[in-house]
Amino acid sequence: MKKFALLALLSFSTLFAAELTSDDIDGYDIYNRDCKQCHVEFLTKSETMTALKAKKLLAPPMVEVSKRIQEVITVNLDNEEARLFVHHSFIKAYLKQPDIFTSLCQDHAKETFGVMPAQTQLTDAEAQAVAEWIIDRFEDVEF
Ligand code: HEC
Repeated sequence: MKKFALLALLSFSTLFAAELTSDDIDGYDIYNRDCKQCHVEFLTKSETMTALKAKKLLAPPMVEVSKRIQEVITVNLDNEEARLFVHHSFIKAYLKQPDIFTSLCQDHAKETFGVMPAQTQLTDAEAQAVAEWIIDRFEDVEF
């Protein structure tokens, strides 16, 4: 009986200790909570230029961020999973430790906006979910 109670207690606590994984989290919710105030989700390239000139942006639009990462980090292999892993990994690392010298943004963006504040409020699963959303959201979108 004692053994049973202990077992029940153990499985109960593992249940509650289970962390949310990125599959349980919608990356778009994280974007809306923590990123939207600086990164507009979508603008065309010419709308971006106009908004930039009018000083209406605080950061590059997310579509530009996504396209830029996919353009400058290329994986020289026909392996989609590996490509996604590399792109998600860069985003997650950058969120934890933004740095003007390692930023892949264009020079004029860095000069205009400065460096992003570290997004230390994100759990690993939230960072993974938002990284996946950034790449997936603009897969078939032109910029
Ligand atoms: C206070 C404003 C601000 C917030 C909030 C913010 N960012 Fe940024 N972010 C920036 C700026 C400015 C840049 C461009 C300069 C740079 O690369 O650091 C940037 C750049 C980026 C880049 C591009 C890095 C590169 O080198 O290509 C990514 C990815 C990014 N942000 C993701 C996010 C995500 C995801 C969130 C929400 C969890 C977020 N940002 C929240 C201001 C912000």
